[in-house]
Amino acid sequence: MNIIVTGTSRGIGYDTVLELSKNNNNKIIAISRDMAGLEGLKQKCYGNYGNEIHIISYDITDNQTKLKNELKYYESIDILINNAGLLINKPFLDLSIEEWQETFSVNLFGVVKIIQSIFDKMIKSEYAHIVNIGSMGGMSIAQKFAGLSAYSGSKSALTNLTECLAEEFKDYKISTNCLCLGAVDTEMLRIAFPECKDSFQSEDIAKFICDFSLKYAKLFNGKIIPVSFTTP
Ligand SMILES: NC(=O)c1ccc[n+]([C@@H]2O[C@H](COP(=O)([O-])OP(=O)(O)OC[C@H]3O[C@@H](n4cnc5c(N)ncnc54)[C@H](OP(=O)(O)O)[C@@H]3O)[C@@H](O)[C@H]2O)c1
Repeated sequence: MNIIVTGTSRGIGYDTVLELSKNNNNKIIAISRDMAGLEGLKQKCYGNYGNEIHIISYDITDNQTKLKNELKYYESIDILINNAGLLINKPFLDLSIEEWQETFSVNLFGVVKIIQSIFDKMIKSEYAHIVNIGSMGGMSIAQKFAGLSAYSGSKSALTNLTECLAEEFKDYKISTNCLCLGAVDTEMLRIAFPECKDSFQSEDIAKFICDFSLKYAKLFNGKIIPVSFTTP
């Protein structure tokens, strides 16, 4: 399996790559901006499991030429896990248009760009799976939190995109699903909500993301799945 994961220098993406690297049949492409974080991840995957992963320092909001060039030797891509994300916690009235644009650039347009860049490789997979990492805050019926209007708005758009792509791509044997996570103990949560104590461990969520991504492309398509103990 050729698997791309974005947002892998830390947090959930980092743990997801580590989990995937336990199986040497997984050829992992790990994307993030922070090269030091990626190098550390590469060493850990190799040291722990002997799995040589391909790291790419890339900003998902950048133009697609660099990414296409880095991926030119891959004939097909089987799984894309769109995990990179940005959360700006600010009251609506203080959020600048630039901050709204930045949030949507990473959480929505970055996803659009990557999918468009690798679509020709995904259709060559026997059965491909796009897994978008959403948020409970992006589900229309879930509880909302002050300060998260841009973040939740962008994640809500991501869930809608998931449903649209499921329809557009179904004849290409590409499933598209969205996992809407509750609170997970990572840098993002610790900075945005330092008082939050009731959260999942990133390693546990990473195991679930891997399991879902690897096994369920043929059973789920266009599904927006809450991964949370709380009822929306
Ligand atoms: N933690 C939670 O409670 C929680 C809850 C619901 C949903 N989520 C979602 O889960 C995903 C992972 O979150 P996390 O908690 O692990 O966050 P995190 O600790 O802040 O990590 C975010 C990752 O995204 C990468 N990233 C950010 N902007 C990027 C860009 N422009 N290009 C490439 N990579 C970029 C960062 O790497 P670089 O800085 O190296 O680029 C980093 O590796 C996000 O989509 C988030 O919205 C998290």
